[in-house]
Amino acid sequence: MSEFQISPNAKPIAADLRAAMLQDPGFGRVFTDHMVVIEWNEAKGWHDARVEARGPLSIDPACAVLHYAQEIFEGLKAYRVPSGDVVLFRPDANARRFNESAERMAMPSLPEDTFVEALEQLIRIDRDWIPEGEGSLYLRPFMFGSETFLGVKPSAEYKFIVIASSVGAYFKGGKPGISVWLSEHYTRAARGGTGAAKCGGNYASSLIAQKEAIGHGCDQVVFLDAVEQRWVEELGGMNTFFVMDDGSLVTPPLGGTILPGITRDSLLTLARAGGITVREERYAIDQWLEDARSGRLREAFACGTAAVITPIVEVRGQTHNFTIGNGGPGIETMRLRDALTAIQRGTAPDPHGWVRPVR
Ligand code: PLP
Ligand code: COI
Repeated sequence: MSEFQISPNAKPIAADLRAAMLQDPGFGRVFTDHMVVIEWNEAKGWHDARVEARGPLSIDPACAVLHYAQEIFEGLKAYRVPSGDVVLFRPDANARRFNESAERMAMPSLPEDTFVEALEQLIRIDRDWIPEGEGSLYLRPFMFGSETFLGVKPSAEYKFIVIASSVGAYFKGGKPGISVWLSEHYTRAARGGTGAAKCGGNYASSLIAQKEAIGHGCDQVVFLDAVEQRWVEELGGMNTFFVMDDGSLVTPPLGGTILPGITRDSLLTLARAGGITVREERYAIDQWLEDARSGRLREAFACGTAAVITPIVEVRGQTHNFTIGNGGPGIETMRLRDALTAIQRGTAPDPHGWVRPVR
C-alpha cells in the first residue's frame, strides 16, 4: 500500500480549550483533531491511506453496515511514560485480533504493520491530546462494509478508520468496585456464533441486558453460557477473574463464546511468571455464590482495556444476591492492577516486550 497522505486539520481545537477538555475527560466523549482512513475494494485492495481532520462521514443510506452490521472494532490505549515517550501496549495483539474478527465477519484482513502504523500516525499528530497523570489516549480502530447494496453478502468495499479519545476512568468517578447484574434471560453468544469476534453486533445484542443491569442499580451485566445458563462467561465489555483463598486465580476458558481479552492474556502471563497458580476453567454461577458465602472466593475482578482492572464487589440477580469479600477492593486484585499499570506506564521493567514507543 502507498504512503499515508497527511492533511492536518485546518481548525484544530485551541490549546486552552483542549486543556480544559482534558481536565476530567471521563470515557469516550472527548475526541482529538484527526482520524486515519484507509479504503478497500476488490480491485485495489487497501488504498488511499490518509490522516485528515476528524469529522462526519458521508455514507449512502443503502450502505451495507447500516443494514447487516458488518462491522468490527478494536480498543487500546497510548500512555505518556516518564521518559517523555508515548507508548502503545501490545498493539500487535490488537492487530492480530482485529484480523481474527475480520475473518469471522467475512471481511478483508489488514496487514498488521499497516494497523500499527495507522495508530502511530494518529498518535504522532494528536499526541497533545494524551492527558497527564492517570489518563490515556484510547484508540478505536474499526472497519465496516461500505458498499451501497442491499443484497445480503459480504460487502465489496470497506473503510478502516481510527479515531482517538482522551480518557480517564471508564466507571464514573473511578469507582473502587463495581456491582454486576446476572443476566438470567439474555445470553451474549453461543457456540458457532460471534462471541470471540469484536464485532459491533455483539454489543448491540448486549445492550438490553446492560440496560436491565443499570435499571437494577448495577454497573455491568454478567453473562452465562447460552447452553446450560450456568457457566460464567464475561461481562458486557470485560473479562472476569476470581481470586480463591489459596491465592490461585480462576478465569473462564476461551472457547469461541467470549472475547480473548488482551488484558486477560497479559494477566495470565504476569500471574504465572509471578508463581501464582492460574486455572482457565469453567466456573458455575452457583459455585460463585457458594464460594463467596463460604469465603473460598476472596476477590473477583473485571478486566479490559477500558476498565483496566476493576474489583467486582457485588453480584445481584433474580435469584442470586451476594457480596464478595468485605465488599471492597481486594488486595490481590489491586496488586495485579499495580503490576500491569506499572508496565503500561513505564514505571516497571517490561520483561515481555509489550510496550512499544511511538516515535
Ligand atoms: N470482553 C469484552 C466483551 C470486551 O468488550 C472487552 C474489551 O475490549 C474485553 C473482554 C477485554 O478485552 P481487552 O482486554 O483486549 O480490552
Ligand atoms: C475496551 O475495553 O476496549 C472495550 O471495547 C470495552 C468497551 C466497554 C469500551
